[in-house]
Amino acid sequence: MVYAAILGYGTVGSGVAEVLSENSKMIARKAGEEVSVKYILDLRDFPGDPNADKVVHDFNIILEDPQVSVICETMGGLEPAYTFSKKALLAGKSVCTSNKELVADHGPELLRLAREHNCNYLFEASVGGGIPIIRPMNYSLTAEVIDGITGILNGTTNYILTRMKQDGADFETVLREAQEKGYAERNPEADVEGYDAGRKIAILSSLMLGKTVRYEDIYTEGITAITREDFLYAKKLDRTVKLLAVSKLQEEGCFVMVAPFMISNHNPLHGISDVFNAVFVHSNMLGDSMYYGRGAGKLPTASAVVSDVVDCARHQGKTVMCLWDEEEVKPLDYMLASRKFFVRADRGLLDEEKAREAFGEIKIIKLEEKPKEYGFVTPLMQEKEFERIRSSVDGILGRIRLED
Ligand code: HSE
Repeated sequence: MVYAAILGYGTVGSGVAEVLSENSKMIARKAGEEVSVKYILDLRDFPGDPNADKVVHDFNIILEDPQVSVICETMGGLEPAYTFSKKALLAGKSVCTSNKELVADHGPELLRLAREHNCNYLFEASVGGGIPIIRPMNYSLTAEVIDGITGILNGTTNYILTRMKQDGADFETVLREAQEKGYAERNPEADVEGYDAGRKIAILSSLMLGKTVRYEDIYTEGITAITREDFLYAKKLDRTVKLLAVSKLQEEGCFVMVAPFMISNHNPLHGISDVFNAVFVHSNMLGDSMYYGRGAGKLPTASAVVSDVVDCARHQGKTVMCLWDEEEVKPLDYMLASRKFFVRADRGLLDEEKAREAFGEIKIIKLEEKPKEYGFVTPLMQEKEFERIRSSVDGILGRIRLED
């Protein structure tokens, strides 16, 4: 019997207990022995809950129980999750987590502690919720040199952009509706400003490079400036707008960025709708592969945590290899990346002639219902060249990067 403890009995933590109970027989066959939840740590009590008798309020009870070998950290946030995870690993207890903030901030250190104490720090649920992506990067693609990752890694923003496209609504209206339905947080900043996707692409980039990419070093732009007009122009260009987390390895280094992109209808990420997530990976032998599914939610995320528990049961006393060193690597300056841009312009301030003079050979798109403005697509240019021109003219209402 493997005894586990759950830290935090919220949405994901209670989901972990549910998955372990609902699928107990299959999990026992796959793990090689039964997995039982011995303790649940939470500040609250849960009278009437089937696991009410397992609830404790003191972490030391779990730490000092030699029977407990696996800890599911589903608390979220940095503290006390960091202190508890560290203490558990130092005591040789494996930790399985859904906590992307903690993994992005302290992942390589916790992985080292796990290695030094013959246990595991596993984090499948930290990126893409229930979608297997950490394990494919760590196990399945070990014969590959991975050189590109492009993901829709945030369900809230993908839901908002999907509704803006389908209903022709503006950002504020859809955000309010998403909050009313409980999809978006009351404080949606981490999602809509791209910070959540930034942490997730920092984790995936670190696994791609085997070194640490810090999310603070990643250029991040959210979706708050995206308008309903952008979707009208995108439609005319056979495109749509998606918040992409991109990591591209080049000879000189790695470009990492989170930003809205206008992607073509042929892009495999074009059809990823609502709260779904997808990760598109390019590697040198396999070529393209894609991982798709529910990127958030109680049972999908809990299922990923439990898959890590099964991994721990299969590797007791042994550390599963994960190539992610503490050495930091800085992403390349995004200003040096080259791409095309979609631009919206105020006709009164920047007419088509002036736009052509400033940007070169541009492709114009007009909306019949908006005669005072127009859109255009620039030629391929470096971000810094685009910014230089943008600051030298008046009348630019917005811009979105293009990606095929
Ligand atoms: N807020 C996140 C999202 C939850 O919307 O994708 C999953 O990490």
